[in-house]
Amino acid sequence: MNDRIADACPLVPLASSLKIGDEAPDFTARTTQGDFTLSSLRGRWVILFSHPADFTPVCTSEFIAMARAVPQFEAMDCALVGLSVDSLPAHLAWLEAIRSRFGVTISFPVIEDPSLAIARAYGMLDLDARNSATVRAAYFIDPHGIVRVITWYPATVGRSVAEMLRVLAALQRVERGDVMTPEGWIPGADVVLPAGQTHEDIMAAGPDWFMNMSRDTEA
Ligand code: BEZ
Repeated sequence: MNDRIADACPLVPLASSLKIGDEAPDFTARTTQGDFTLSSLRGRWVILFSHPADFTPVCTSEFIAMARAVPQFEAMDCALVGLSVDSLPAHLAWLEAIRSRFGVTISFPVIEDPSLAIARAYGMLDLDARNSATVRAAYFIDPHGIVRVITWYPATVGRSVAEMLRVLAALQRVERGDVMTPEGWIPGADVVLPAGQTHEDIMAAGPDWFMNMSRDTEA
């Protein structure tokens, strides 16, 4: 475990106050692909996602979908990293069961977090839960190590990999240019231009001054 988290552990509250815009806490942990340090992925996008428990149906469905989408995430220079409080042997057994039963190889690392150190640092724990299972949290971390999006789903509702890809594309689009993305935006769709800051800007923009949509110059 990285010193920063290990040292902070007794002080880390059960509910982390990690927010979007914060630096993602760094850590080193055991994974299904050997020891892993989050900061080793600086320069790439990372989606760090927790799941409540190995060998459970909703989590299995998510892992299969995420594994199948790895080429799409890779094309967007984004690494997937899974995590749960289960042990490394449990993770390895579960991934092998997914491979043998569904023919799907989980090619991204899955972190074991039995001490809950990482889950606490990130705020992946549901304080009302009766056990230590993490919620379905996902942290979209930019190439500078900054948390850009946090999602929290209950254990009983699986996430949408298509939505994860869409959110990642939107984050990358707004990062590249002076635009925002409207509801449901997908690459190629119109973007939102920032509202004018002066009376002249607003007059020039016309009646749509408060929602200035534009064709995306990248489309
Ligand atoms: C599931 O992944 O199926 C699951 C995990 C924890 C609680 C309930 C469902």
